[in-house]
Amino acid sequence: MTPTEPENVRRVACVGAGVIGGGWVAHFLARGYDVTAWDPAPDAELRLRRLVDAAWPALTQLGLADGASTDRLTVTATLEEAVTDAQFVQESAPEKLDLKRDLLARLDAATPPGVVIASSTSGYPMTDMQTDAEGAGRLVVGHPFNPPYLIPLVEVVGGERTSAEAVAWASRFYEVAGKSVITMDREVPGFIANRLQEALWREALHMVANGEATVKEIDDSITEGPGLRWAFMGPMLTFALAGGEGGMAHMLDHFGPSLKSPWTRLEAPELDKALYDSVVAGCDDAAAGRTIADLVAERDQGVIDVLRATGRLPGARKEAGK
Ligand SMILES: NC(=O)c1ccc[n+]([C@@H]2O[C@H](COP(=O)([O-])OP(=O)(O)OC[C@H]3O[C@@H](n4cnc5c(N)ncnc54)[C@H](O)[C@@H]3O)[C@@H](O)[C@H]2O)c1
Repeated sequence: MTPTEPENVRRVACVGAGVIGGGWVAHFLARGYDVTAWDPAPDAELRLRRLVDAAWPALTQLGLADGASTDRLTVTATLEEAVTDAQFVQESAPEKLDLKRDLLARLDAATPPGVVIASSTSGYPMTDMQTDAEGAGRLVVGHPFNPPYLIPLVEVVGGERTSAEAVAWASRFYEVAGKSVITMDREVPGFIANRLQEALWREALHMVANGEATVKEIDDSITEGPGLRWAFMGPMLTFALAGGEGGMAHMLDHFGPSLKSPWTRLEAPELDKALYDSVVAGCDDAAAGRTIADLVAERDQGVIDVLRATGRLPGARKEAGK
């Protein structure tokens, strides 16, 4: 069966409603969709509604779509009820391969034919997750960033058995739903952005483990330094400017050899108790008494301010014809 045109989708199902699934729910509600959600945890509905309510002021500031309302959310008792009328399904269950395999097969069996099903996985290739699904052709990865209701990027990629049509449909749908999409033509572990984020995180953990930097120094080194540039210009163009008038060519001639210097530690550090405890304690120190809810509100406002300052609020994007 042919799927609904991305522009005509009205009903979205979100399966798994934790940090990311809940964030997707908030995003789709704000864009005016009817959303059904299912999550097996007994307190899932309470947590989900709390997350959506906490996100709503930020989403209102960004500008809600016509008719958008938190009343358009229905939490169902079963997975089957959640997807039975869905025109798109977003899976955001825990990052465990067996669980994803089983869940995607169940979703495939319960979702109307032709409807695209996307997984929020942070790094599993779809080829490894679609093994048990008969309708594997409609399964894609749609990898978001936290919080999905504010960070525009979604990385889209199929697996070996995914149809090219499903990948194209998903990319178009996310764009219509207000996301910024990178469509990958091959499976790469960690996709693009998580591969980069992981490299940074791995080095940060090494520094804490070796006592070379505190959690706060690591965070400040990014927010007071390169992070300011990365919000509007990526690491490659930023480095091209570091080459002065010679641009990237001069940069490569000048600093290329230092790539071989032992600045980075390529193996992941052992996550022993001492490292675990110092990273957790360091984050508690850095929070300086702020609760997770305080930090979420602060982060949301910060992201909105940056999007506004760099002309990337959804309204501004449309005006710019992007
Ligand atoms: N946290 C992030 O920053 C982030 C970013 C991008 C992608 N992701 C990906 O999103 C997915 C969800 O991660 P999260 O951070 O929201 O985790 P989470 O632990 O906050 O939420 C997972 C939710 O799934 C529910 N769940 C458990 N078993 C389930 C099942 N069989 N079917 C459906 N739901 C089930 C849990 O009750 C929980 O509410 C993972 O694949 C993760 O890799 C996470």
